[in-house]
Amino acid sequence: MSVSTDQFQDRMLSLGLARVSEAAALASAKLIGRGDEKAADQAAVNAMREQLNLLDIAGVVVIGEGERDEAPMLFIGEEVGTGNGPGVDIALDPLEGTTLTAKDMPNALTVIAMGPRGSMLHAPDVYMDKLAIGPGYATDTVTMDMSVKERVGALAKAKGCAAEDITVCVLERPRHEQMIEDIRATGAAIRLITDGDVAGVMHCAEAATTGIDMYMGEGGAPEGVLAAAALKCMGGQMYGRLLFRNDDERGRAAKAGITDLAKIYTRDDMVTKDVIFAATGVTDGSILHGIRREVGYLTAETILMRSKTGSVRRMTYRNPVS
Ligand code: FBP
Repeated sequence: MSVSTDQFQDRMLSLGLARVSEAAALASAKLIGRGDEKAADQAAVNAMREQLNLLDIAGVVVIGEGERDEAPMLFIGEEVGTGNGPGVDIALDPLEGTTLTAKDMPNALTVIAMGPRGSMLHAPDVYMDKLAIGPGYATDTVTMDMSVKERVGALAKAKGCAAEDITVCVLERPRHEQMIEDIRATGAAIRLITDGDVAGVMHCAEAATTGIDMYMGEGGAPEGVLAAAALKCMGGQMYGRLLFRNDDERGRAAKAGITDLAKIYTRDDMVTKDVIFAATGVTDGSILHGIRREVGYLTAETILMRSKTGSVRRMTYRNPVS
């Protein structure tokens, strides 16, 4: 049976996508622990774009480095790929955790998701209030409307454990002080992270390995969509509500075609069709090893996933360097 090139051939494209995230991670390797966030990000952006443009797709960046006037490359709306292939939407973060990379702290990743046109929410660059748990729980076990105490209680009940046995991952920010206090009051443990909430959300999907049961708090909305794409492949539930601090941010939503500013998005509202997702470890983390160096080689670990099948593939690439 012949397959139309208009169709999203996720199986064929997924290995190419892994190459894209690998290339970005390998390019940022020389900047791990060098204290220069911008240089690390730029190296990842350049490499990701170069590899992306080798793929036989007619791609459009829907979640990218920012608006065209603030991002010279991989800006929202940029067309990528050779143009010979299916029309796809792309969400990317060439370096998720620029500070983590510059300081050689855990869980910096390169991240990219691809799906058919219209598959991912065009989230404006604003904050999003996020809530996520891993697979195996009934729908709406925890919800955005619940208090922190109710969320921990409901998840503990569903898991069959005490609140003390639940660990919640939270970005360490002054805006989260009250939430952190409320979580502590339940007896639950908190894993504070300084950056990188895509990885934070992904940790919920592999709770037995990472020790994280739930993610909550406010972070970037673009990162929220990328995390939703990861969970759509790995399993798990996620909710997000966009947060607007001023008219400029509300204007960004209008530009992105968002009219209901108070909407609570589920994982599948953020990612409406099947997608493929690749992430490569830059610094060591609980989900992926970071780049390993030995004389003459760099080794990268990539997680490559397809939501259609729920397949999760881990690949190690030992790359000779000259
Ligand atoms: P980088 O831009 O340095 O990669 O940081 C990413 C990040 O930590 C995201 O994971 C998170 O969603 C967002 O920044 C949080 O934003 P803020 O630092 O403004 O709280």
